[in-house]
Amino acid sequence: MNPLSPETVRQHLEQARTSVDAELDRLLPPAEEYPPSIHKAMRYSIFAGGKRLRPTLCLQAGRLFGGEEKSLLRVGSALELIHTYSLIHDDLPALDDDDLRRGKPTSHCVFGEATAILTGDALLTLAFEIISDAGAPSAECKLRVIHELAHAIGTQGGMVGGQVIDLETTDRTSDAATLDYIHSAKTGAPIRAAVRSGAICAQAGEGDLARVTTYGEKVGLAFQIVDDLLDVLGSQAELGKTVGKDGQQHKATYPALHGIEPSKQIASRLVEEACEALEPYGERAQILQGIAHYLIVRNS
Ligand code: IPE
Ligand code: IPE
Ligand code: MG
Ligand code: MG
Ligand code: MG
Repeated sequence: MNPLSPETVRQHLEQARTSVDAELDRLLPPAEEYPPSIHKAMRYSIFAGGKRLRPTLCLQAGRLFGGEEKSLLRVGSALELIHTYSLIHDDLPALDDDDLRRGKPTSHCVFGEATAILTGDALLTLAFEIISDAGAPSAECKLRVIHELAHAIGTQGGMVGGQVIDLETTDRTSDAATLDYIHSAKTGAPIRAAVRSGAICAQAGEGDLARVTTYGEKVGLAFQIVDDLLDVLGSQAELGKTVGKDGQQHKATYPALHGIEPSKQIASRLVEEACEALEPYGERAQILQGIAHYLIVRNS
């Protein structure tokens, strides 16, 4: 089967982005609603840009199993709120201390540190309010999705756990197992949860869930490896964030530990394995497979 061209994948991402952005605009409080400072800051970071990768993965995984569009869009948008919260906090002076995100000054540079912290809190909280709100999907699905997401961004193999070890290993030498823990936890777990949430909304069976879980784990790790590579090889103009920071801050990264070429090879192999996991679905999995391939050739 021929993989989709990067151009076709880009079109799918673009279509998903348009629908997700309209949903986010509907779900976020208006900028002028009281207290306007926080609502402005929430909208600022959400609409500064972003690939909308996690909502797209949720939508595509849900569609693979016949999920209802409205529920998927809602859950996908909640995933983007959580992701944006993680970026705002990741950029704070106490964490990575970054000035540029999505091509714009970071939240704390524009609104001050206290508001940036609260903006992250607000986006995270709103995500769970939205998922638990009335309407589709069923109460049972919502509960499973809430549990899935909370676990994926928590401390036991989830995003916060990964961020903690990321910070604690800065300026130290890490071994390969620790690096894999950091990457799989801080980035892989939320990406795995994105595809699993879509599949859960579509009431996928255990076998199907296991296959998308493998896909999500492999793509999630590959995604962070490429993020590390882009910090070395990418351009600030295309990435919308400052490059060369990981080296400057002595972060544990794939290129630092394994070298550039081996890191590229590992990312490619992970993407192949992710795609193989979806082979039983034949052509129906083409878009998810195309997205996986696109993620390693991306430059933003
Ligand atoms: C950046 O994520 C942070 C990581 C987890 C590596 P993205 O590269 O998906 O950032 P946006 O959403 O497109 O800005
Ligand atoms: C952050 O990883 C992952 C998150 C949980 C937000 P990085 O620190 O490498 O992400 P960037 O490079 O700042 O986007
Ligand atoms: Mg970081
Ligand atoms: Mg960072
Ligand atoms: Mg990075």
